Amino acid sequence: MSNVFVLDHPLIQHKLTYIRNKNTGTKEFRALVDEVSALMAFEITRDLPLEEKTIETPVTEAVTKVISGKKIGLVPILRAGLGMVDGMLRLIPAAKVGHVGLYRDPETLQPVEYYVKLPTDIEERDFIVIDPMLATGGSANDAIHSLKKRGATNIKLMCLIAAPEGVEVIQKEHPDVDIYLAALDERLDEKGYIIPGLGDAGDRLFGTK
Ligand code: PRP
Ligand code: URA
Repeated sequence: MSNVFVLDHPLIQHKLTYIRNKNTGTKEFRALVDEVSALMAFEITRDLPLEEKTIETPVTEAVTKVISGKKIGLVPILRAGLGMVDGMLRLIPAAKVGHVGLYRDPETLQPVEYYVKLPTDIEERDFIVIDPMLATGGSANDAIHSLKKRGATNIKLMCLIAAPEGVEVIQKEHPDVDIYLAALDERLDEKGYIIPGLGDAGDRLFGTK
């Protein structure tokens, strides 16, 4: 079954409080999501494999370490996932970025896919799917299916906030996908919003309503 990691670093938790606050405006919200994404990238890459490399320092020869293994692909779920891309790219600048466009039908809460564009070398990459919110789990579930259908084999899911309902869906549908969160909240309300959550992530990031 997928592991669930709640990244409890004090900087992540502190910034998340301001992200949740309804009095935080668009500009600050965007900056905070960017900062937390970079901090989460630091944690989610903790298990990247290393290999030894021999180099010359100005003083002597030294055997040091570099990252080995597959390259990374980031896949934000449009649109709110876009707010997390730049923060992650600051730490993983060589990552390629694919996009999966999905929105939740407000009546049925079912995800509707409208765009998929992934790096061409899918088999050579480990993927991190990113979206601030894991609510019913429908969108992330669909995005992961989309990636797997196209040949992705190693996938992690990174979200700011999840509801237990969404985590359960991913664990059932994708037991191979580990989940990285800044917070695991209480539940969903009748409209599929996460309680306490942060409201509508896309609207708060882009200033729409
Ligand atoms: C939000 C959010 C997730 C989805 C989560 O996107 O960014 O993609 O809802 O909900 P789920 O787990 O129940 O599927 P939304 O559908 O509002 O689209 P947007 O990013 O274009 O605003
Ligand atoms: N999507 C959001 O943006 N917020 C929620 O609380 C649930 C889904």
